[in-house]
Parts: sequence; C-alpha cells; structure tokens
Amino acid sequence: MSSAGFPALRARRLRRDAAIREMVQEIRLHPSDFIAPLFVQEGCGAPTAVGSMPGVFRLNLDDLVREARELFELGIRGIALFPVTPSELKTPDGREALNPECLVLRAVRAIKATVPELVLFTDIALDPYTTHGHDGLLTADGRDVDNDATVTVLGEMAALHAAAGTDFVAPSDMMDGRVRAIRHALDSAGHGETGILAYSAKFASAYYGPFREAVGSAQAAGTRSLDKRTYQLNPANPREALKDALLDEQEGADALMVKPAGPYLDILAELRRQTRLPLAAYQVSGEYAQIHAAARAGWLDLVATRNESLLAIKRAGADWILSYFARDMATALRNEG
Ligand code: PBG
Repeated sequence: MSSAGFPALRARRLRRDAAIREMVQEIRLHPSDFIAPLFVQEGCGAPTAVGSMPGVFRLNLDDLVREARELFELGIRGIALFPVTPSELKTPDGREALNPECLVLRAVRAIKATVPELVLFTDIALDPYTTHGHDGLLTADGRDVDNDATVTVLGEMAALHAAAGTDFVAPSDMMDGRVRAIRHALDSAGHGETGILAYSAKFASAYYGPFREAVGSAQAAGTRSLDKRTYQLNPANPREALKDALLDEQEGADALMVKPAGPYLDILAELRRQTRLPLAAYQVSGEYAQIHAAARAGWLDLVATRNESLLAIKRAGADWILSYFARDMATALRNEG
C-alpha cells in the first residue's frame, strides 16, 4: 500500500484492454508450429471416422494427398503419417514393414510427388505390422521384445523410408540404441540428408488408447491397454526420462520428442533447458479425445480448451506440436490474422 492507501504496483495496467494484452503477449501459436498426424488406409473408399476421435478420419491415398496439400496451404509445414495395415498383412515379425510397396511408403511417394515442400515424418516401429501390436520383434519365449534384433530391422525400415522420400524418420519404438543404429543405416545407404526425430521421452501411457483403435494395433493385440512397460517409460520417472532423451541426442537425433504432451509438461520444460535441439511434443489421441468428450457433454468449451492446451505445450518449450487439432488451429489462426 502507498501512503495514500492505494496499491503502488498495479500489474493489471498491462491487462487493461485487448490492445495492450496483445502487445504484452509472450507466446503465440503459429501454423508452422504444428505437425499434423494423418491416418492412411488401403482402397479408394470414403474416409472412415475414428469413433473416439471426433473429426479424425482414416483416408485413402488420394484423399490423403488432397489433405496434405490443403494443410500446406493453411500454413502447416509438417505431417506425420500412420498407416492402417490390413490385418491379413500382419505377422508376428511385422515383415510388411520392410515391403517397399507398403502403404506408408506409397503414401510418402504420392505426397512428395504432389506437395514436395511439405516436411514428412514417418514412424519407425513395428506395431502397425505385428499381430501382437508390440513395437518390436518378440523374444523366443514371447515374454519381451528382442531389443537388438528389433533395432536391426528398424535400421532397414528407416533406409526404405528415406529412399521413398521421407524427410524425417521418427523412431517411436523406445528400443535401446535405435537412434545410433538408424543413423548408421541411413548414412550407409547414402541418406545422410534424412533426419531423425526421436520419440525420446515416450511414456507407457493410457492416453494412446484411441490411436490404437485408429490403426487397429489394439484390435490385433485384443486389448487397448497393451503393456509396453519394458520399453516405454514409467510415468513416475522424470530423471530416467531425461537420461533417456539425452542419450538420443548423443546417438545423433536431430530433434527430440516428449509424448504425451499435456501430462508431461514438466519433462518438456526440463528437457528444453538441457538440450539445444528442436523439441517436439505429441498431444496424443487420448488428450484430444478427452477435450472433445468433455465438450460434447457440455462441460468444457472446445475452442477455448483446445487453444489453452496447445499454448501450454508451446509455453513449456515445444518448437513443434504434433496434434490432431493442427488443421483446426491453422484454420482458426488464419481467420484471426
Ligand atoms: C506406436 C505409436 C503410438 C502412438 C504413436 N506411435 C502408440 C503406442 O505406442 O502404442 C500414439 C499416438 C497417439 O496416441 O496419438 N509406435
């Protein structure tokens, strides 16, 4: 209090009206912050809705290319592709991952032929291709993933993706040593220009449920809560997460990712302090489903909650945000600007 009985320090001066609030705003979302995850399926049928993710569809190749072009026109610069593998092509060893004509590689070539400027990210992991839904090959007794055998396959897979024209391979498997092995496989195959976005701090999360429904990996496994705790991180272990993420940097990753995003902003903020690499955060399927579900029930405002959730991810330190809201946000930002 000043001597006259008024507060001397009035922080609210900077919040008085819309103009001054705009001038002091510290963080802004931009369409180029976003990487849009897209699901691609075989055939030439109409888009099929993902039940637990309102507004998200599995697209055929032609629709995918059209969507990629529209996203680029909206200012989005990156997309992440996820294939829905027909169940008859799934095997215990996921060998379809190494088929040069597999769906995701045809998608990469089709998009690069039409929208070559768009930056393509493709997942490196076996879960879309295995009957058991795990990200790697299993050991002989079937009780765990076989880390080193998996890493060898992932290197081959990455080289195939690079040859098809993907810009960044994104190992999402959490095997030990995969970034180094993939970098080596890429370089030996003459793909020194292809980058690695490592899913570095990927937690064993309940928030992946809707994604597993979308790509059918849950169906293959017979459960949405597939147990990946021998390779994905324990949500209770922040130090271990940072250690693991920084190993990916040492092994040659070009950018690191934290996933899920919203429940792990502490990890994101700390990693931001500990690395100079670009950081991505993946607002996963369950985070998206949660906001939509509450909005449908009339309990939360969809647009305001969406905006706040994404701003929070950027504030915590993300340079790139993978989000199923990417298209809606880019459209909203365009209409605002
Ligand atoms: C699998 C993969 C998963 C996601 C992206 N890649 C799921 C999993 O680990 O089972 C989840 C993305 C999302 O939930 O939106 N390699």
